[in-house]
Amino acid sequence: MRIGIVTCGGDCPGLNAVLRGVTKAAEKLGWQVIGFLDGFEGLLPPAQYMVLDHTRTHGIMQQGGTILGTTSRGHFIAKVGAGEKAQVPAEIIEKARRTIGDLEIDCLIVVGGDGSLTTALQLQETGFSIIGVPKTIDNDLEATSMTFGFDSAVACVADSLDRLHSTAMSHKRVMVLEVMGRHAGWIALFGGIVGGADIILLPEIPFEWEKVAQAVRRRDAAGYKCTLIVVAEGAKPKDGQQSYHHNADGEHRLGGIGEIVTAEVAGRTGKESRCCVLGHLQRGGTPTTTDRLLGTQFGTKAVELIAEGKFGSMVSYQNNEVLDVPIADAVYRLKLVDPNHQLVKTARKIGISFGD
Ligand code: F6P
Repeated sequence: MRIGIVTCGGDCPGLNAVLRGVTKAAEKLGWQVIGFLDGFEGLLPPAQYMVLDHTRTHGIMQQGGTILGTTSRGHFIAKVGAGEKAQVPAEIIEKARRTIGDLEIDCLIVVGGDGSLTTALQLQETGFSIIGVPKTIDNDLEATSMTFGFDSAVACVADSLDRLHSTAMSHKRVMVLEVMGRHAGWIALFGGIVGGADIILLPEIPFEWEKVAQAVRRRDAAGYKCTLIVVAEGAKPKDGQQSYHHNADGEHRLGGIGEIVTAEVAGRTGKESRCCVLGHLQRGGTPTTTDRLLGTQFGTKAVELIAEGKFGSMVSYQNNEVLDVPIADAVYRLKLVDPNHQLVKTARKIGISFGD
């Protein structure tokens, strides 16, 4: 048996743990592993790949990123935005099929988020043997309660809030931290709670400017020296829009709401306010212990699913168990924060405002 593997889309901590887990479990069965470079692009002739064995994956679990490289652009884009679907062109799929045939690869493991798994599903539907492994710091994939990378991103948010807290206290300021997560508020919700935020603004709970200002004023009146606000990049005011950066290539990327919140809060409360945009720090660095465990479990489970011939399925984490679901169950819709989620209620009980 020879299996191929690709790491696709935005990178995240824990990808190397998956590659190591797959390689170790496959080697035990006497299988070979071929790692394609730069996501699906490595499948295009002339194929770009490296043979993965224990000598190549030794010592990589604790490294961030992916030793295979990745891209969120290229020829295999099957999803162009929130909910918009695109079709990978037939000639691109045929080129990938030729590579898989030439290298005598029996099955392809696709480690990816919503977009890459949409591509994976298309490949499966056109005759490839695919196993999906869910990955994203955003934790917005349906059909799995957790993706690796998320815990590391949350740890980064918590560490940043700890640092912001001391400087905010010294200056008696409002500090606004803009975090990633696309259209889902999981990173902001988890990171905000464990980092001691006072106000958390989520895409799923549109906020009112005056309610945010009131929360700041209330803290001031109660004698608190500072206020920490976590705002998800996809958050928006009631009757307002999400905020985007538009770059020269015509790409629109969520971002900018942090500065807007900072200016509004300063204007409405008179408090000195500063903004910090955490950005790709949340995606880099060494994976947490949870993400090392998840990555290892997901990688070994993927090999188990191949041995069982369960092609078209995706590794899934549910109730502390690593199981499998059809890839189709995980794509075409995002897992968003329910405004009545238990953690939202917990946050409200300890006085965190959602600005609603
Ligand atoms: O999906 C992961 C993610 O980090 C999002 O949270 C963020 O909006 C986006 O990717 C950033 O993408 P890029 O690395 O292409 O700027």
